[in-house]
Amino acid sequence: FGQCGRNISSLHRPIENVTVVGGGLMGSGIAQVAAQSGNNVTILETDENQLENAQKIISNSLARVAKKFFKDDNQKSQAFVQEISTKITGTTDLKRAVANADLVIEAVVENLEVKHKLFKSLDEAAPARTIFASNTSSLSISELATVIQRKEKFGGLHFFNPVPLMKLLEVVRTSETSVDTLETFLNWGKSLGKTCVQCKDTPGFIVNRLLVPYLAEAVRMFERGDASAEDIDIAMKLGAGHPMGPLELTDYTGLDLGVFIMEGWHKKYPHDPLFQPVEYQKKLVAEGKLGRKSGEGFYKYK
Ligand code: CAA
Repeated sequence: FGQCGRNISSLHRPIENVTVVGGGLMGSGIAQVAAQSGNNVTILETDENQLENAQKIISNSLARVAKKFFKDDNQKSQAFVQEISTKITGTTDLKRAVANADLVIEAVVENLEVKHKLFKSLDEAAPARTIFASNTSSLSISELATVIQRKEKFGGLHFFNPVPLMKLLEVVRTSETSVDTLETFLNWGKSLGKTCVQCKDTPGFIVNRLLVPYLAEAVRMFERGDASAEDIDIAMKLGAGHPMGPLELTDYTGLDLGVFIMEGWHKKYPHDPLFQPVEYQKKLVAEGKLGRKSGEGFYKYK
């Protein structure tokens, strides 16, 4: 397999009802693209405030998509936003959230213990047909699957931020993921308009395995004073054709996420030089400089 849907047999089952667990930036994005492709979507969150936040993220993003699709036709834009929004419901009730789910995607905090507890409950509550995926960007899919019974119905579906725009979906299969589940993932990815790549369950899969050490080296370069933040970013945008420079991108994804991913990998693979934590980034995080979301990282945001 290469792209989503290539060499797909008729084994896969169509996905109609999708439950997204976690309504943060990634979860909301996944919910939005699933609804845009016609799925009925349920977002499961811990409280009403988080559900409200998810709703805000989605309506802002839908408004941007609508503007692109319908330009100045306000009526059509509003109808589009309304139509997609009605396909998404929110709940704090786990059992209700998964009662009719074909696919459950987990996009909660990157904490193995939290995810284990959650998957155990989801496994107990969901119908036997439901397949599960994690959107984890740094944890092992096989390790996540240890707590569930239906290991053949479990894999990784790794989206990229901003989900509505980024065209890639990494599909991760463990040694126990069935062909049926894999094909269902690939077909669903295709139905969302994403291009899928398949990869083994290794740290960071494809993109983050290459991206995270590269971003870390850019921070080290800045710390050494080899170049200014602006020049490092300009260099990679104009010299390598990247849409964002590495420090801009670190601000965009969050300095804390980078530190968290690196520390997790370093703990598991202490001798790998590419996974050495970046002390300067840790210092910025300790000062509350998390990037765009906190108003300051390598740059200041209003
Ligand atoms: N929802 C909907 N539309 C959005 C959007 C969103 N969340 N964000 C931006 N847009 C739209 C804008 O409305 C705009 O539309 P128009 O062109 O019609 O005006 C368009 O996208 C372009 O946006 P901007 O002008 O604001 O910015 P841009 O041209 O620089 O594009 C970008 C923004 C797509 C984010 C681009 O800069 C980019 O591709 N950056 C790199 C992102 C990246 O590398 N992501 C991966 C991060 S790593 C990751 O996610 C993995 C992980 O596990 C941590």
